[in-house]
Amino acid sequence: MTSGRSFYITTPIYYPSDLPHIGHGYTTVAVDALARWHRQAGDDTWMLTGTDEHGQKMLRAAAANGVTPQAWVDKLVEESWFPLLETLDVANDDFIRTTQPRHEERVQQFVQALYDRGYIYAGEYEALYCVGCEEFKPESEIVDGTGAFEGLKVCAIHSKPLELLQEKNYFFKLSEFQDRLLELYRTEPDFVRPDSARNEVVSFVKSGLKDLSISRSAFDWGIPLPWDTSHVIYVWVDALLNYATAVGYGTDPEQFARRWPAYHVVGKDILRFHAVIWPAMLMALGLDVPRGVFAHGWLLVGGEKMSKSKLTGIAPTEITDVFGSDAYRFYFLSAIPFGHDGSFSWEDLSARYQAELANGFGNLASRTTAMIARYFDGVVPAPGDQNDNDRRIQQVVADAATAADAAIDRFRPDEAITAIWTIVDALNAYITDNEPWALAKDDAQRARLGTVLYTAAEGLRALAVLLSPVMPDATQKLWTALGAAEPLADQLLREAGTWGRLQPGATVTALAPLFPRVEQSA
Ligand code: ME8
Ligand code: MG
Repeated sequence: MTSGRSFYITTPIYYPSDLPHIGHGYTTVAVDALARWHRQAGDDTWMLTGTDEHGQKMLRAAAANGVTPQAWVDKLVEESWFPLLETLDVANDDFIRTTQPRHEERVQQFVQALYDRGYIYAGEYEALYCVGCEEFKPESEIVDGTGAFEGLKVCAIHSKPLELLQEKNYFFKLSEFQDRLLELYRTEPDFVRPDSARNEVVSFVKSGLKDLSISRSAFDWGIPLPWDTSHVIYVWVDALLNYATAVGYGTDPEQFARRWPAYHVVGKDILRFHAVIWPAMLMALGLDVPRGVFAHGWLLVGGEKMSKSKLTGIAPTEITDVFGSDAYRFYFLSAIPFGHDGSFSWEDLSARYQAELANGFGNLASRTTAMIARYFDGVVPAPGDQNDNDRRIQQVVADAATAADAAIDRFRPDEAITAIWTIVDALNAYITDNEPWALAKDDAQRARLGTVLYTAAEGLRALAVLLSPVMPDATQKLWTALGAAEPLADQLLREAGTWGRLQPGATVTALAPLFPRVEQSA
């Protein structure tokens, strides 16, 4: 069921030394919802996620735990990072780990090719390094420490002391790519989204690029440089290449041609790596640059960027254990305009769960299926004559489906959900206005009752398809309850707004609440 139009989308590969928190979960469910949408639309879709396992941060964490770095990352990936995907109901096509041979060998091949083409040279280096960022920090991100770090230079992001490193390093001639990068941003205005991110990248590149140190010799937890094995490849160069190695760069030209280039969705903290360094690396070898980089905002908790290191981290299971994975996905994707920062609070989550999921969508599904069960013995009635009210619902559904698809194309799952929710609201109002329970008391109104309940059920059919990328679990339950003949996964998303797909005569079963009341424990 593929149209041939390739859609390859990635999450960042996360550092496994942090336990997964709702920030990682946010990026991952956003990418999963976008991928599911395209997959369900028939696009030739591939979703990649994974873990970034080399570097100094990982080495130190392992040492602190008294195990080898490999044993340390193996344990974390098994115990925490694979389960995250289950917790959040993520349908990724692949999971790459940077310690896999399929990755390490191709990274060496790529970096060797850069060297052979003259883009790498040896030099001396002295600069302030942040192990949290795994980055030599630019002047603009170095601040004076406070409290315990008074008198020290600290990272503006991590608020932890920077380390002065003096090493012989190999450098990538990033500075040579300034003009070509600016040309890319100019000719492809959607290469970096949203506009705020694009502006930041353009002014950063305009201010001048320095060559990039791409090797480290002070430790050995990384991929050795092929021509000088006393150095390991800088963890960010290693990590960025995952997007290419995972789809067959250097081993499977057919797969690589089919998938590449990708769309990258990242948090704005790592935008420059993706929108500056990564396309320059690709340009150097004459490979296609990514199709685009979308930087979303930060989840804030108590007004600050949520992070493990600042002890504001919340594990996704804390939310899914209470509200379920669909609610997690719905909440983060609908409540925060994608590309902006958003504040997380339990109050906001509970309020939206109750209002939008339980009372809005869930109640619509239960009362519609219950009325068909009660008044028509569970058989979808055939619609009779239609009036303006009925036709208005058909129009709302058609418009919502079109608007949602356009929003997904703009990488705006929040706007897609807003569009889809016009159906929920319109149908709830339609049921209230048309009072099927009153029509059911009057035999003369039997045909009208059939039209009203067919309209509600057919609207639910469209909702099940349109919401399936966001809430795969609840929509599958609804789909089953509607008794539709073909599997939900076969419903082409871009046809979801076409009226009349639900067949009269289908067997409907009354649905238990999709979003049950949550016990409040304070
Ligand atoms: O940076 N709000 O990995 P990482 C929103 N390994 N998103 C957040 C977030 C928050 N408070 N905190 C984290 C790395 N994220 C590198 C990436 S890619 C080639 C290498 C999400 O484990 C967001 O997607 O620090 C952010 O960009 C990512 O986690 C950083 O994950
Ligand atoms: Mg980080």
